[in-house]
Amino acid sequence: MDTRSELQATVNAMVQPGKGLLAADESGPTIAKRFKTIGLESSEENRRAYRNLLLTTPGLGEFVSGVILYEETLGQKADDGTPFPQLSARNGIVPGIKVDLGKIPLALAPGDEITEGLDGLAKRFVDYKRQGARFAKWRAVYNITASLPSRLAIEANADSLARYAAISQEAGIVPIVEPEVLMDGDHTIGRSAEVTEAVLHEVFNALHRHRVVLEHILLKPSMVLAGAEHAQQSSVADIAAHTVRILKRTVPSAVPGIVFLSGGQSPEEATANLDAMNRLGPLPWNLSFSYGRALQEPPLQAWRGQASNVKDAQAALLKRARLNSAAALGKYDAAQEKN
Ligand code: 13P
Repeated sequence: MDTRSELQATVNAMVQPGKGLLAADESGPTIAKRFKTIGLESSEENRRAYRNLLLTTPGLGEFVSGVILYEETLGQKADDGTPFPQLSARNGIVPGIKVDLGKIPLALAPGDEITEGLDGLAKRFVDYKRQGARFAKWRAVYNITASLPSRLAIEANADSLARYAAISQEAGIVPIVEPEVLMDGDHTIGRSAEVTEAVLHEVFNALHRHRVVLEHILLKPSMVLAGAEHAQQSSVADIAAHTVRILKRTVPSAVPGIVFLSGGQSPEEATANLDAMNRLGPLPWNLSFSYGRALQEPPLQAWRGQASNVKDAQAALLKRARLNSAAALGKYDAAQEKN
């Protein structure tokens, strides 16, 4: 298959009405932080057992079309000896890989950050692809204050995201482009909207300059909402209206799918907000989820590292996947939370 057909086939498998992605690509330090909340050591076997639990959840493929894995997980095997990428594919879930190497302070720009990992990326893709990865993810992070992010940070991160996306498409791997405007801080929803608009505008400008084919990417943005420490928290209706307005201003309709990150929202909030946005349709793109914490918190808390809790944990994951699937269609009903 030529590269364009390969990219299109992957997009078609990932972007389906009522389906979203499971972000299970926590890096070593991040998964250690999550395990700490249940008092569990982050050993290689515990990480494997946890990812095994998530990926062997019966019926997950009905609501989830793709899973983002961390490099270590891509090379690990399920209890029955099947490598995780093959196991996912067998369940109708496209396996993908987080390829950025995390963020560091942006030099000479106090408070701003930049994501690393471009050097050697084309070579790494050869191995990832051999292991079964069909899409990739790169996360850029923007801190908000009255003066941040700087123009420099907005431009430098857009350029890195676009370089990554171009390298990814050349390798026949669909890039998920993830610019995350953080919800930490006491900023208003208006400030979040202003920053998100500037960030997305620059990202699409850079994607164009780097010749990235928009039909073969997915955008993974943050929702537009007031900072977590702001006195007045945003309503579901406000978040939906602000987010959709900014996306309409900045994201070309050639982009097939937008899959949100949850970014620290509670599972219920993340579901309600996605649902409210889809009720504002018709929209030019498929609007769905690529949640990490908002899908995994309930199963992680149910599991607590005990084999005897695996079934309950899988039920908790399936419930969130099912409710987010409904939200991706604009058909979520909060009463369903009780079932
Ligand atoms: P959250 O949904 O927990 O923000 O994670 C999504 C993700 O992939 C962050 O890079």
